Amino acid sequence: MRNYESIREWIKNLKKIVFVTGAGISQESGIPTFRGKDGLWRNYDAMKLATIDAFYENPKIVWEWYSERRRNIISALPNMGHRAIAELEKYAEVVVLTQNIDGLHQKSGSTKVLELHGSILKIKCTVCNYRDEILTEFTENPPNCKCGNILRPEVVWFGEQLPQDVWQEAIIHVNQCDLMIVAGTSLVVSPANILPTYAKQNNAFLVEINPEDTEMSLEMDLVIRDTSANALPKILSLFKEN
Ligand code: APR
Repeated sequence: MRNYESIREWIKNLKKIVFVTGAGISQESGIPTFRGKDGLWRNYDAMKLATIDAFYENPKIVWEWYSERRRNIISALPNMGHRAIAELEKYAEVVVLTQNIDGLHQKSGSTKVLELHGSILKIKCTVCNYRDEILTEFTENPPNCKCGNILRPEVVWFGEQLPQDVWQEAIIHVNQCDLMIVAGTSLVVSPANILPTYAKQNNAFLVEINPEDTEMSLEMDLVIRDTSANALPKILSLFKEN
């Protein structure tokens, strides 16, 4: 069984680290994950609320769900896992590909973050090209755009395409990385779950940080069965000692 020490040699001549992160990395900041016991909100299945059909059928409920999460996210603080990733920029080029919409990587100081699933802190029109930063007021219903149609959170819902410019850039980084660290994601959602396979094809060293098994655990070079707030500072300390 490999351990942290197996990264020590690998990081000596390392140039680029790519992180693929998911809800688990923000769990220790008090933000619930999607699957497992956290996946219900007022008895609604989170997976069923995160679709354009659910939004058109019941805009008030979906908007309320996002407003509540937005409130929680705005008051959340990055944890030791986010902070360790930000500090790693002192030792290598670091790119974070996150499925999270909470902005906590940026809040912790990471400078190169690609939001694959958008941001809960932004809104866009369902019809025209209007986009804006966070809404400061929390309305009960989704507000209307100047064009007369309703505004929605600028997030990627099930069945929607990822922003293609962001995705293309993500692939370029993945093809260039020496080390990929996959932290806090179940890797069940496509297309983000293909990123470790691309990195492997490029001979990157693959590390998974997750208290539980994922579909890709067997493909990893190193699996750390721990939370990200525990494991990432330990990885950072290997870089500091190097
Ligand atoms: N540290 C690390 N990993 C953790 C922690 C923790 N403290 N707590 C939980 N985990 C792990 C869980 O074991 C699980 O494998 O985080 C993972 C969270 O998985 P999901 O809830 O499926 O979240 P994620 O992989 O980000 O989901 C992907 O699906 O719902 C959509 O668009 C949404 O971006 C989301 C996407």
